[in-house]
Amino acid sequence: MSRAIGHQTLRDLARHDALLVRTAARHRKNAYAPYSSFTVGAAVRTRRGRVHAGANMENASYGLTICAEVSALSRATTDGDAKGVEAIAVVGGPRRGSARSLVTPCGRCRQLILEASHLAGRPIRVICCSGDLRTIVVATIEDLLPFGFGPDNLES
Ligand code: THU
Repeated sequence: MSRAIGHQTLRDLARHDALLVRTAARHRKNAYAPYSSFTVGAAVRTRRGRVHAGANMENASYGLTICAEVSALSRATTDGDAKGVEAIAVVGGPRRGSARSLVTPCGRCRQLILEASHLAGRPIRVICCSGDLRTIVVATIEDLLPFGFGPDNLES
């Protein structure tokens, strides 16, 4: 199932999605981003209604950086909740300066979310938000990663 991508505001979201956004925004404050000063928070909700949050974590060896989405998804996995992911909210932007532009998951994160969607057996809603939470785009992972490579491609 693919839903049209559209801009929304926090008020347009269902209550549980708005809460997820707020959780991501709260955890954004825990980001460790001394090199880019770009802080991101993410929160995953699963079918059981549980929420797992994460923040980006950078490293002096730049390429080792862990994105907020990876952090949140790995917490869901650690808590035995990887199979039921139904939505992920991402909130981010420069620590200082404009908070108006939207943050969307990077390519690697899209691939990991696609795998979670396969595990869950349903589309995952990705709620992408600007730092000030005034610009929100809701899309499915299939919208963000069409024709993605997934577990099905490995079947012979
Ligand atoms: N980042 C995320 O955590 N998630 C995204 O979706 C985009 C980028 C982080 C990685 C890095 O620490 C900083 O933002 C700048 O790229």
